[in-house]
Amino acid sequence: MSEFRLTQISDTHLGRRFPGLIANFQAIRAHIDGNRPDLVVNTGDIAFDGPTSRDDAMFAKDLHDALPVACRYLPGNHDIGDNPTAVGPAPKPPVTEAYRQQFCDLIGEDHWSFEAAGWCFIGLNSLVMNSGLAFEAEQFDWLSREISRAAGRPAALFLHKPLFLDRPDDAETPGTAIRYVPQPARARLIEMFGTIDLRLVASGHVHQRRDFSYRHTRHIWAPSAGFVINDARQDRIAIKEVGLVEYRFRPDSFEVRHVRAVGQVDVDIEELLARMGGPH
Ligand SMILES: [Fe+2]
Ligand SMILES: [Fe+2]
Repeated sequence: MSEFRLTQISDTHLGRRFPGLIANFQAIRAHIDGNRPDLVVNTGDIAFDGPTSRDDAMFAKDLHDALPVACRYLPGNHDIGDNPTAVGPAPKPPVTEAYRQQFCDLIGEDHWSFEAAGWCFIGLNSLVMNSGLAFEAEQFDWLSREISRAAGRPAALFLHKPLFLDRPDDAETPGTAIRYVPQPARARLIEMFGTIDLRLVASGHVHQRRDFSYRHTRHIWAPSAGFVINDARQDRIAIKEVGLVEYRFRPDSFEVRHVRAVGQVDVDIEELLARMGGPH
């Protein structure tokens, strides 16, 4: 295959009680149906709240199973719980092996790799990083084998949380540490990927659309497919709108298109909180 087309969706946050998010997913489904990429990757927060609602995870998986294209998944903090960080309060709920197992059982593999169009694609579970769970070490062992196999080829990394805001050595602050891969796992990842030709890091989580390069790696933040977080609740770093991202990989190059499907609506987080009957 000399060309590989991949569509990234993220932060779908699906649950039966959120019709606005379901409608946005259906708009994406129609877009994907017309466009027929080779693969769809959902970079996490697939369900509205996997740890407390097994039904959200099952509902989200049923909607993805109805897509006319093969899918791969990566967990978000709303699927398996969140990372502990060295600064700031412990996030709730913390990631656990039981939540991770539920994700693998109901949604699919939480880390993966494959090759296409001369590229090496790696998907990582970013929520176990810094957790001390046995799987954190297991995944790093697996990753070092994948990195050796990727030598000499361009590589693309997919994960829920961005690696950093602007630079690998950005300091962690109590208010924003949970937004990025926490230290010291972040530095370890960057060092490992520094040994190969990493061209792309594609993440979700922030619910803002962003596209920037650091050295020769392009960092794409996919927007949420479902909803935006207003400025009163979250600082504005980039573009706050719902949408998806389309990639076209060829043996030594790739293109990125930032897309908004016809019918996708910028649902605001307040509408969801009102349905939940209380603050998030
Ligand atoms: Fe999210
Ligand atoms: Fe998230």
